[in-house]
Amino acid sequence: MKVIYYGHSCFSVVAGGKHLLFDPFITGNPLAREIDVSRVPADFILISHGHDDHMLDAIEIARRTGAMVISNFEIIEWLAKQGLKKMHALNHGGGCDFEFGRAKLVNAVHSSMLPDGSYGGNPGGFVIETRGGNFYYSGDTALTLDMQLIPMTTRLDFAVLCIGDNFTMGVDDALRAAEFVKCDQIMGVHYDTFPPIKIDGAVAKSRFNAKGKTLHLLQPGESCDL
Ligand code: NI
Ligand code: MN
Repeated sequence: MKVIYYGHSCFSVVAGGKHLLFDPFITGNPLAREIDVSRVPADFILISHGHDDHMLDAIEIARRTGAMVISNFEIIEWLAKQGLKKMHALNHGGGCDFEFGRAKLVNAVHSSMLPDGSYGGNPGGFVIETRGGNFYYSGDTALTLDMQLIPMTTRLDFAVLCIGDNFTMGVDDALRAAEFVKCDQIMGVHYDTFPPIKIDGAVAKSRFNAKGKTLHLLQPGESCDL
């Protein structure tokens, strides 16, 4: 599946010809200055939790593209108050079939407050099943034993895991997460954007290699097939 990285935890996966855009945060990212947010395609926008660094550009992109926003109930309610209409609310453990395939909202251990201080519900991750392949996006989270539930139902082609430490899993826990979800192709996100989450990418890649796994660390604007 084609994956396009827009920096921080913002990436897009092309499934069944549809662009699934995750956690849009581009205009606030000092490392993503070359990305023109007005040209980012989206048919669906999936938001893991309410923090600014995961949804800063969501409303603008949704308005421009007419994409359907998928998130938890509280975030969808909040976006409705901002005037968005084409949306679908999930809650944890629940999934739904869309044009691209199935999206399920799964647990993440983190916090979630919306930009104006409103309650953002519980943060989540997504398991996506499509005809072209399956993947898991962890969102911002600690390592959790719940991740072991994912491979019981879904054989993953790749997983997108936070690895920046400080606010989320670091490299070591992301490696354990890769083992929990039984996946060898990992794309790292939520690193380097701000000083507290800087990582040594070469060291991180070698840690994954040592366990027979591949860690993909893309540059903003770069894409790859996973
Ligand atoms: Ni967060
Ligand atoms: Mn974050």
